[in-house]
Amino acid sequence: MRAAVLCEQPGDLVIEDLVVDKPGPQEVLIQTVGAGLCHSDLHFMEGLFRSKLPSVMGHESAGIVQAVGQDVTYVKPGDSVVACLSIFCGQCRQCLSGHPHRCTNGRATSRSRDDAPRLQRADGTPVDQMARLGGFAEEMLVHQNGVVKVTPDIPLEKACLIGCGVTTGFGAAVRTAAIPVGATVCVIGCGGIGLSAIQGSRVAGAGRIIAVDMNPESLEAARLMGATDTVNAGEVESVVEAVRELTKGGVEYSFEAIGLKETAEQAFEMLEIGGTATVIGMVPSNTKVEIRGIDLLSEKKLQGSMMGSNQFRTDIPQMIDLYLNGRLLLDEMVSATISLEQVNEGYNWMREGTVARTVITF
Ligand SMILES: NC(=O)c1ccc[n+]([C@@H]2O[C@H](COP(=O)([O-])OP(=O)(O)OC[C@H]3O[C@@H](n4cnc5c(N)ncnc54)[C@H](O)[C@@H]3O)[C@@H](O)[C@H]2O)c1
Ligand SMILES: [Zn+2]
Ligand SMILES: [Zn+2]
Repeated sequence: MRAAVLCEQPGDLVIEDLVVDKPGPQEVLIQTVGAGLCHSDLHFMEGLFRSKLPSVMGHESAGIVQAVGQDVTYVKPGDSVVACLSIFCGQCRQCLSGHPHRCTNGRATSRSRDDAPRLQRADGTPVDQMARLGGFAEEMLVHQNGVVKVTPDIPLEKACLIGCGVTTGFGAAVRTAAIPVGATVCVIGCGGIGLSAIQGSRVAGAGRIIAVDMNPESLEAARLMGATDTVNAGEVESVVEAVRELTKGGVEYSFEAIGLKETAEQAFEMLEIGGTATVIGMVPSNTKVEIRGIDLLSEKKLQGSMMGSNQFRTDIPQMIDLYLNGRLLLDEMVSATISLEQVNEGYNWMREGTVARTVITF
């Protein structure tokens, strides 16, 4: 089967023909239908975070179950599934205390070193999978706790977006920050993640949602998703001052959806007294985010969010209902549909910042 493989860091993806093993007892083989391009893969392609190599990139995919291992009871061949990288063991302290997205026992849901690899090249070289999913591939072999069964009513080339981007942004607003009705919100960065945080804020009933980006197209998309105000970061002297002016003092909740030191600091600085900044973007591992200590005295909070603090087996079907009822926009988030061979071109569009989400269809 064909897959987009990262062979060196930094590096573009290479389309290779790989051999997939049979499903292990707890594994599911999926025929991929749609795969969204998330910025996290690009961070790895650019070498900002280390990856095992070679590795199939992609972690925002949906498809149809082709085969299941002997102990799999949750799904059967023919089921529609969305994959999610928050693979839970169901037994560690984080899983059992209601935080399965923070599962600390990845070993329980992975193959051991002594087992045959899930993927390999024809010459026997083992090939890794981004986030233990490897979604930019015609087939995905994953642990059953990394998938959720979904209604066949949703097109899988739309549902795939919920696997990472929508779950992450929407969840950051409704789960991690749990913004209350009427809140004032600012979202910095309006790609797939930021647009989803805007949608989560709208569904949660935020009173005001300020979107910040440098691209007029992204700000237009933000309005469509529910933003009430927009700030073009390239046209103002200070984003923080612009937001303070709009809100007469700052926002109650801010979200950073880019992954930069500068914008993470902006998110904190634009808070009103008692406000909460949630950094969703992946800030490079060796970069420090700085805040003024005195700001903590006014009860301002800075927190992170991993995969929208999801409980994806129940959250994703809920989000699909919102989509089917017209309250969560997914069609409008897809700027372009491409083939697997065009994956590097898709990432070039992301570098230019001109797209919301690009989806590979198989
Ligand atoms: N926390 C998590 O669990 C999690 C999950 C998925 C993705 N992420 C991260 O979220 C971030 C966003 O991902 P994405 O796929 O939406 O990316 P994206 O590239 O599609 O969107 C980023 C947006 O930010 C805008 N932007 C860039 N620099 C800016 C600046 N200085 N000021 C204002 N706007 C600016 C761009 O124009 C673009 O619209 C990435 O860092 C990604 O790795 C985190
Ligand atoms: Zn992602
Ligand atoms: Zn666990």
